[in-house]
Amino acid sequence: MNGSVVIAGLGPGNDALVTPEVSDALARATDIVGYIPYVARIAERPGLTLHPSDNRVELDRSRHALDMASAGKHVVVVSSGDPGVFAMAAAVLEAVEHGDPAWRDVDIQILPGITAMLAAAAACGAPLGHDFCAINLSDNMKPWELIEKRLRLAAEADFAMAFYNPRSKSRPEGFGKAVKALQDACGDDRPMIFARNVSRPDQTIKIVPLTEVTEDMADMRTVVLLGNSQTRVIERCNAAPLIYTPRSVEG
Ligand SMILES: C[S@@+](CC[C@H](N)C(=O)[O-])C[C@H]1O[C@@H](n2cnc3c(N)ncnc32)[C@H](O)[C@@H]1O
Repeated sequence: MNGSVVIAGLGPGNDALVTPEVSDALARATDIVGYIPYVARIAERPGLTLHPSDNRVELDRSRHALDMASAGKHVVVVSSGDPGVFAMAAAVLEAVEHGDPAWRDVDIQILPGITAMLAAAAACGAPLGHDFCAINLSDNMKPWELIEKRLRLAAEADFAMAFYNPRSKSRPEGFGKAVKALQDACGDDRPMIFARNVSRPDQTIKIVPLTEVTEDMADMRTVVLLGNSQTRVIERCNAAPLIYTPRSVEG
C-alpha cells in the first residue's frame, strides 16, 4: 500500500483561514504529526491518530512521518501559518535528503497556508506593499552575528521587514539587541507594528515609532513588522490607523 506525507499550513489561527485543500488533506489523513499546540487544533475522529510532539524535535518528527508513510499511512505534518516559512516543510525535506533512500519515493506534497506576516499586514493595511524580507530573530539555529548582519543590510537596502520568533523566555535579550541595531541602521522614526495573536479572538495590533520601541513589546505570539523609509501612517478619527508602503519609489 502506498502512503503519503502532506506538509500543511494551518494558517495563523482562525479556522476560516485554513484553505480548502488543507481541510481535504486533514479529512483523508490517518495520522497527524506536529508541535503540540498545532495538533491540538485538529478534531479527533475514528481512524485518525494524533502524534503531538515538543517544539525542538523537528527532524525526529519528520523521520517519524516518513517512516509511517513508508508503511502505508497517510500522514499530515501540520505547521502554523505556512509550512515553508520557518516551519516543517524544510525539516521534512532535510530528513528526506539525509535519511533512508527509500523516503525519496514517498508521495510528498506541501500545501501552503497564510503566514503570520501576511495576516498581520492585512490587519493594519499594506505595510509590505513594496519590497520586503522576513527574518527569524531566533538564534537557536544560526549565530546572532548573522542576524545582526541581515538586519543591517536589510535596513541599508531599505526593505520593509517582518520578524518571526522575536522574543522568548530563553532569549529575553535578543529582541532588544535587534531593535538597537535597527534604530542605529535606520536612523528615523518609521513605524514598527506589533501584531499579537493575529486572526484569533484576542488579536492586538500596536503601532510604535521605531525610536520608542522597547524590548518588552514582543513575545513569541507576536509577529513584528517594520516599514521602510517611505511607509505612511494614515490617522483616522473613528478607526485604527491604516499603514501602507507605497507601490513605487522615485528614481
Ligand atoms: C516557528 S514560527 C512559525 C511561523 C509559521 N510557519 C507562519 O508561517 O506563520 C512562529 C512565529 O510565528 C509568528 N506567529 C505565528 N502565528 C502567529 C499569530 N497568529 N500572530 C502573531 N504571530 C504569529 C510568531 O512570531 C511566532 O513566534
